Amino acid sequence: MNDNLKKLLGEEYKERFSPKEFVPGESFIPVSGKTFDEKEILNMTEAVLDGWWTEGRFSDLFEKRLSEWLGVKFTAIVNSGSSANLVAFSALMSAKLKDRRLKPGDEVISVAAGFPTTVNPIVQNGLVPVFVDVDLGTYNINIEKLKKAIGPKTRAIFLAHTLGNPCELDKIAELCEEHGLWFVEDNCDALGSVYDGKKTGTFGHVATCSFYPAHHITMGEGGAVFTDDALLYRIIKSIRDWGRDCWCRTGMDDTCKRRFSWKLGNLPLGYDHKYIYSEMGYNLKVTDIQAALGVAQLDKLEDFIQKRRDNFDYLYEKLKKHEDYFILPSWSDKAESSWFGFLLTVKDDAGFTRDDLIKHLNEKKIGTRLLFAGNVIKQPYFVEKNIKYRIVDNLVNTDLVMTNTFWIGVHPGLSKDMLNYIVNEFNEFIKNMNKT
Ligand SMILES: Cc1ncc(COP(=O)(O)O)c(C=O)c1O
Repeated sequence: MNDNLKKLLGEEYKERFSPKEFVPGESFIPVSGKTFDEKEILNMTEAVLDGWWTEGRFSDLFEKRLSEWLGVKFTAIVNSGSSANLVAFSALMSAKLKDRRLKPGDEVISVAAGFPTTVNPIVQNGLVPVFVDVDLGTYNINIEKLKKAIGPKTRAIFLAHTLGNPCELDKIAELCEEHGLWFVEDNCDALGSVYDGKKTGTFGHVATCSFYPAHHITMGEGGAVFTDDALLYRIIKSIRDWGRDCWCRTGMDDTCKRRFSWKLGNLPLGYDHKYIYSEMGYNLKVTDIQAALGVAQLDKLEDFIQKRRDNFDYLYEKLKKHEDYFILPSWSDKAESSWFGFLLTVKDDAGFTRDDLIKHLNEKKIGTRLLFAGNVIKQPYFVEKNIKYRIVDNLVNTDLVMTNTFWIGVHPGLSKDMLNYIVNEFNEFIKNMNKT
């Protein structure tokens, strides 16, 4: 890129995005947000000026670097975390897996306290979600109940690491091994989390990630599917790329040297391989401009993870004195979380409700979020579509999450002043509650 343009873009970045002074009570503190500098703008401009725009050199670089960083053999980038989950699950339905493939009616164990698009691909593929309750504090699946959930129709487990807090992966891996189950890891909120010395996203047969701006790194919109299995990777790429059997890169032809001599399905011999579809696919690819943004973000990932951990620790240290009112976050001894947020559950006898508190915080310009769908089976689409599911025992904790749990941000854009302001507002709220 021309040096003048580089300089101009650098100046424009500063003009538009230089950090503004934080004014307590006036500046809004978002629960999540992207952190970037002029490198992201320059990278995206490079990709625009390449004139290629679909999957290209930045996509290749991103996939290679992310695979190396995470420690997986294959990464396929897609246009969202939800698409990643859809591709991951649809891949397990492929006829190429022969008798290992999932079939409609098979059961998949998951939790109802989470994001809807972890559950939707199960339903979309005609599989039956089996919901197990979560533990309060970790908000991850209860392992004893998970054991009880496994029945003759169980074929897979699909779980997210809640807000970056790893599930008990050794126990889950053991159960999958013992019962011959697929394990799909939704790592969308946990990029950089570690369990027993190994990064999350490397435990499942397939794992996924999101690059929506709220997440650890962003592509604007984006996601990724990870696997170590060469066959699954081929299926994943095919489903992502319209379902085509051909594996030529965009803009290439006849990589297989047999373009006009395949005989597949009931098609005539020699039907152009470019237009042979062996999976039920979609087009879920990213543009190279998104990937260029991702490449610049990858350089900052380690730093982002550290800041998230530091912010989480700071909030924990300052808020733990309020343990009488809240269930504080908890985690396994083996976990080192790359936190997505700081989750709190207001105790039933706190003397105030979750909704009182989040209303107060939002009035004070502090952003809050719920644990996504709360209890997904109570969401209108679940009720109205009459979705078939099974529950193990009950979802008592999940219901409590729906009514009493919320989270505040730990993202790298939060300054110490902001964190102190948040803590002060918690202190003030509790002090005033105690007066009344
Ligand atoms: C656990 C989990 N899975 C999947 C998704 C979906 O990701 P996306 O918004 O990129 O579709 C999210 C979104 O935040 C999520 O939190």
